[in-house]
Amino acid sequence: EQMNVTVICGSLRKESYNRKLLDLMKAEFPEHWEVEEAFLHHIPLYHADVEEVGTPEAVVKLKLAMMRADGVIIVTPEYNNGMPGVVKNALDWASSPPAHSALTHRAFALAGATPGSGGTALSQYQVRQTLTAAEAYVMPGPKMLVAGVAKKTNKDSGMLEDEKITRHVRKFVEAFDSWMHRF
Ligand code: FNR
Repeated sequence: EQMNVTVICGSLRKESYNRKLLDLMKAEFPEHWEVEEAFLHHIPLYHADVEEVGTPEAVVKLKLAMMRADGVIIVTPEYNNGMPGVVKNALDWASSPPAHSALTHRAFALAGATPGSGGTALSQYQVRQTLTAAEAYVMPGPKMLVAGVAKKTNKDSGMLEDEKITRHVRKFVEAFDSWMHRF
């Protein structure tokens, strides 16, 4: 059965480590999965007055990409022990208005990478809390916490080259696949 996943990177920068992790993940999806990427670059700051006049096009695109998908994967950095404002802002837009939330009863899985030692655990915990508030489902595990990512990136190719990470990504995608089939 054909399944659809929408993947989102919580970092906007070109050389983002989280984007590199996301690229690894995209490559691991089996053939019965169609992988679509949604981008946060053009999402404006949440503004209820703007929403009242009409949901901005970039937000409509994001929400449709989420709603088309059987599941959504968010790969996010950690900023100051929390999720980046870019991610929170996008989730707030996606949840609103409540009658047309793209989060409610939708399935999500979380991952993240950092040059630091915490593996984005605190950021992911916040995302989980926000998604739970919006009545989304979040895959309980396995966790995908990539610490020390700079050291695991090939300086010449710019690629994330680490056997352990690749193996864990494979395990994560397999778990997502079987979790999604339970829906
Ligand atoms: C960071 N960084 C960071 N890392 C971390 O593990 N825990 C943290 O709390 C923070 N805090 C933080 C705040 C701000 C404002 C910035 C800009 C950065 C470092 C962060 O992990 C690093 O910049 C990553 O490279 C960001 O992810 P991308 O862009 O490489 O995907």
